[in-house]
Amino acid sequence: MTARPDDPAPNPHATEAEVQAALADNKLAQVLYHDWEAETYDDKWSISYDERCIEYARGRFDAVAPNAPLPYERALELGCGTGFFLLNLMQAGVAKRGSVTDLSPGMVKVALRNAEHLGLEVDGRVADAETIPYEDDTFDLVVGHAVLHHIPDVELALKECLRVLKPGGRFVFAGEPTTVGNLYARKLGQVTWKVTTEVTKLPFLREWRRPQEELDESSRAAALEAVVDLHTFDPSQLEGIARAAGATQVHAETEEFAAALWGWPVRTFEAAVPAEKLSWRYRLAQYRAWLGLSWVDERVLKHIVPRRFFYNAMITGVKPLAAGK
Ligand SMILES: C[S@@+](CC[C@H](N)C(=O)[O-])C[C@H]1O[C@@H](n2cnc3c(N)ncnc32)[C@H](O)[C@@H]1O
Repeated sequence: MTARPDDPAPNPHATEAEVQAALADNKLAQVLYHDWEAETYDDKWSISYDERCIEYARGRFDAVAPNAPLPYERALELGCGTGFFLLNLMQAGVAKRGSVTDLSPGMVKVALRNAEHLGLEVDGRVADAETIPYEDDTFDLVVGHAVLHHIPDVELALKECLRVLKPGGRFVFAGEPTTVGNLYARKLGQVTWKVTTEVTKLPFLREWRRPQEELDESSRAAALEAVVDLHTFDPSQLEGIARAAGATQVHAETEEFAAALWGWPVRTFEAAVPAEKLSWRYRLAQYRAWLGLSWVDERVLKHIVPRRFFYNAMITGVKPLAAGK
């Protein structure tokens, strides 16, 4: 597990002046926002490195690249966050060695710590996906989860992926919000937040109300979130961007319709009330409900509802073999 000594240090406590500067500098906003949430990110999103998330990560990979020749020798993750996607894919047998990269030094630090706990062969660097600091033809696989929508020039980032991939190498990105999905998810989230925070003002529900300063901090974070979330995607448009970047065998998939309509209000409700009010039995029931609805999405709704209505988009593509091979 190695971090580079010349990489910048995490800055989890941005000053007011830095936050103001970040409003006009998107990359600075990405670093401040993600450095700030790095140490609590796994808890916030219920990220784990056990069977549940291993299966989830492998499921996303297989959904869009079912015939990939596994295991890949060397994989790179862009916008790794705490390492959720690559570390779980490595545990699922998708790749043997990994490099985790992120614009946020705080995230790279946590991802490397997670990799060390898991005993995985992983190194890490602070890196911008638009200028990947690796040589041409280095990796067999490049992956990312919930990162493309943060990158100003997505086509440039995919060109960079193809540059650092070996010929025949593949990229897989998952967890990107679709344009239609983002509309209903945001609306449902806003309404749930409003209703929950108003209803818990009632005296007999007071113990379900989080302290006002915590609610204010969540609202400020949501405002910064709006600055760091740059894009939503139509799956066909995403395929067009990947082809324009130079990829072949391009294919986009989408998933989660009923699961998203259910999941966004639930997640927002959970964020709006004190964590200790939600029992493990409640959380398990929610997880099972989400699994059941995902099954309905996959087996039923996918055959009826147009793909752009689903919430999560995934995209894969392959670096062309050199001419004559
Ligand atoms: C929503 S988080 C996802 C983290 C992780 N992949 C996951 O799914 O849990 C997005 C991550 O992308 C990173 N990021 C944003 N812009 C980036 C860029 N231009 N290059 C590399 N990483 C970036 C952020 O710092 C953040 O860690």
